[in-house]
Amino acid sequence: MKEKLVLLGGGGHCKSCIDVIQEEGRFEIVGIVEGVPASEVPASAGMTSASANLAGAVVIPAKAGTANPATAVAGTVLGYPIIGTDDDLPELVKKYRNFLITVGQISKPAVRIKLFETIRSLGGHLPVIVSPHAYVSRSALVGAGTIVMHNVVVNAEAQIGVNCILNTGALIEHEAVTGDHCHISTYAILNGQCTVGSRTFIGSRTVLANNISIPDDTLVSAGSVVLRTLEQPGTYIGNPLRKIR
Ligand SMILES: CC(C)(COP(=O)(O)OP(=O)(O)OC[C@H]1O[C@@H](n2cnc3c(N)ncnc32)[C@H](O)[C@@H]1OP(=O)(O)O)[C@@H](O)C(=O)NCCC(=O)NCCS
Repeated sequence: MKEKLVLLGGGGHCKSCIDVIQEEGRFEIVGIVEGVPASEVPASAGMTSASANLAGAVVIPAKAGTANPATAVAGTVLGYPIIGTDDDLPELVKKYRNFLITVGQISKPAVRIKLFETIRSLGGHLPVIVSPHAYVSRSALVGAGTIVMHNVVVNAEAQIGVNCILNTGALIEHEAVTGDHCHISTYAILNGQCTVGSRTFIGSRTVLANNISIPDDTLVSAGSVVLRTLEQPGTYIGNPLRKIR
């Protein structure tokens, strides 16, 4: 029997996480916890404009035992029910052992960090989720609560902190290290032996040269190229790279 898993946060990132969890097949998703009461979740929750306009579209049937996005209704996300709010976490931890933080993270990691610490302090378990379409080297280390999404490569002796998002297609090369609570976005590249500090966001398709370091609490925009170590935390954009905050 599959272990049960509760997801924390029901936005867009949650939908991508659900897809990874379904493909991995290790957990049964029991539902989603929102930061606000279920009655205040908009009626469109779980309905992207695409899923709301499926007339005439080709809908791929869900695999046995999984929810079908075509049946998404208010109060659900991809067919999984919203089962409570953050206020219910103490009770939910008593009932269900496993939790995954599915809130997204761009500018501020605070919500993900707070949820992570809450679950830990309540004694909940934060498993590592790895897409079967990802590759994680047997010599790599991945911290609790981190999700490794489709087509990610985590190469030899890489080390990933806790509560990170390695988003679709990210490449973490040999001996690269990330701190805790980082989001390495879609198709970002961390080349060999580079280091990313905690609570840092690396934007989509950004490239970090090998052997460089990015500080804690830093945001690097989508499509940036970082060729040298950044000494100061802040927000960096573009190629050539410049600090804007
Ligand atoms: C860095 C980022 C957060 C800045 O957003 P913002 O605070 O709203 O800033 P603005 O859009 O007002 O842009 C500020 C300036 O930076 C420039 N800029 C923003 N992003 C840039 C980028 N990726 N490359 C080059 N320039 C960029 C803007 O053109 C603007 O320049 P200006 O002041 O000369 O007009 C945003 O651009 C970004 O990259 N977000 C991440 C997207 C991403 O990777 N998502 C992944 C999800 S998995």
